[in-house]
Amino acid sequence: MENLLVTGGSGFIGSNFIRYLLKDTDFKGRIVNLDKLTYAGNPENLVGLEEIFPGRYIFIKADICSMDAIEPLFRDYKIDTVCHFAAESHVDRSIVGPSDFIQTNIIGTFNLLECARKYRDNIRLFHHVSTDEVFGSLGKDGLFTETTSYKPNSPYSASKASSDHLVRAYFKTYNLPVTISNCSNNYGPYQFPEKLIPLIIINALSETELPVYGDGKNVRDWLYVKDHCSAIKMVMDRGKRGETYNIGGNNEMENIRIVELICDYLDNCERPKMHKSRRELITFVKDRPGHDRRYAIDSTKIQRELGWHPSESFETGLEKTIRWYLENRGWIDHVKSGEYQSWIDKQYGKSI
Ligand code: NAD
Ligand code: DAU
Repeated sequence: MENLLVTGGSGFIGSNFIRYLLKDTDFKGRIVNLDKLTYAGNPENLVGLEEIFPGRYIFIKADICSMDAIEPLFRDYKIDTVCHFAAESHVDRSIVGPSDFIQTNIIGTFNLLECARKYRDNIRLFHHVSTDEVFGSLGKDGLFTETTSYKPNSPYSASKASSDHLVRAYFKTYNLPVTISNCSNNYGPYQFPEKLIPLIIINALSETELPVYGDGKNVRDWLYVKDHCSAIKMVMDRGKRGETYNIGGNNEMENIRIVELICDYLDNCERPKMHKSRRELITFVKDRPGHDRRYAIDSTKIQRELGWHPSESFETGLEKTIRWYLENRGWIDHVKSGEYQSWIDKQYGKSI
């Protein structure tokens, strides 16, 4: 990896991945971060990297749906490796408005694959970052493995499933060197507060309602974001071309339990204390349509074949995450007020 194109690098996982590569690994090459800076892309997530790593970190504002914008980047920056995070990522938004999900997640991925095919001679790897949601919903028992059949239930997961199939097809048909990873729910620093954990932390800090969908007993399998980053790096370094790898932390948890843990943690550490327990802010609200009941990942393959193991337990990861939000109130304020979006508008003109 000498010239790595990271798409969606200004979002939650992408920004953690870029920082992880530059600061915590033996990666010596150059990163080109291609991001459209939608509402979920925040330059503040990577502030200062251009100065700390001159010439090794470059930011380009572009839309993967525009072939004209992205094709020259492959040529000009001599891209040899792609790590593709860019996506519309929030299930609730996909239910309200699926169109952007179809465009970015399917057409955008197709455009990147076409660029990689065009510059095939340079390309050593196209890594596609995907989700466990492509497998649908589990009953009480069982785990998703790499051979579980696809059964996506939301426009988001259907668009990600579609992109996975395209990536696989480019391996089979064009012999493009690809890998795919399907990961469970991530949490950690810089996650946009539309997702469960940051939303609950931020609402609990401001003592506002904590919305829990349905009966709160839906189960997700949580992984600390840095563990996801280390798994992706390992797949990129050592994964077999054409293969998919499931990534998960073996941390199944009901939503309501997570909300309670966050309430209790903040009750015990926050000053001034609330006059009542934060659990009293919990409000059961209308369920998400088509809400998947349970996700759980079997990550035996990546553990056995590549030797990957997560470093954080749910307890240590959640504590680190809550502490990060407590210590970064400025980031929260900018995200909540949309201040970073005005900065983007000033820097780059109105959103594209
Ligand atoms: P995110 O929403 O925080 O970030 C997405 C990034 O993509 C943003 O920076 C956004 O500006 C950018 N983007 C969106 N549309 C674009 C376009 N058309 N062109 C260029 N850039 C565009 O998402 P995330 O949670 O960091 O997820 C990153 C990837 O990981 C996604 O592909 C998602 O499906 C996958 N994933 C996420 C999780 C999770 O728990 N968050 C778990 C498994 C897999
Ligand atoms: O499984 C991987 C997926 O995890 C990723 O592919 C997605 O990009 C990511 O957004 C995430 O999807 P979820 O839908 O599982 O995440 P979310 O944080 O939106 O919701 C987690 C659970 O919490 C889910 O069961 C719905 C519930 N929930 C969510 C919100 C935002 C609530 O009960 N209340 C809420 O306010």
